[in-house]
Amino acid sequence: MAVRDVIRMGDPRLLQPAAPVQDPTSPEILSLVEDMLDTMRALNGAGLAAPQIAVGLQLVIFGGFRSPRYPDAEEIPFTVLMNPVLEPVADEMEEGWEGCLSVPGMRGLVPRHVRLRYRGVGLKGETIDRTVSDFHARVVQHECDHLAGVLYPMRIRDLRNFGFAEVLFPGQLNDDD
Ligand code: NI
Repeated sequence: MAVRDVIRMGDPRLLQPAAPVQDPTSPEILSLVEDMLDTMRALNGAGLAAPQIAVGLQLVIFGGFRSPRYPDAEEIPFTVLMNPVLEPVADEMEEGWEGCLSVPGMRGLVPRHVRLRYRGVGLKGETIDRTVSDFHARVVQHECDHLAGVLYPMRIRDLRNFGFAEVLFPGQLNDDD
């Protein structure tokens, strides 16, 4: 287990589509997930996608925390999700502030689907099929965007709503996620 380096916006590897995981239950994948978990916890992230540590696989982890930045958000179970497929449940979108470990120190206002069905494969090869909303749906959309080479600033509608966390939200906890 190890904390890996998180690559930052500007690195072309963050813009490449990730490949499906061929064997979700392999020891190599377990080892990768352990490193991703160490990395996410060390940096207080809400989630992490494999491409952020320069591994081009369709694998994200998220949840298992109660964020002081989102005290009212429901707790998201810790989840390892491979080869995800996302399907908005309705057209309703909502804007919310996001950060990213690959865009350190910044925040942007990003529109996301409020309700979302997501499916994929877990670490034991099990099928994951959940319909979620609000913060849980936002985190999944953010993390899975990384698998398509999309970073949240690319989704900001009005770049006046993009800036440094400590300027936008002075005095608040400003961990990246
Ligand atoms: Ni991110």
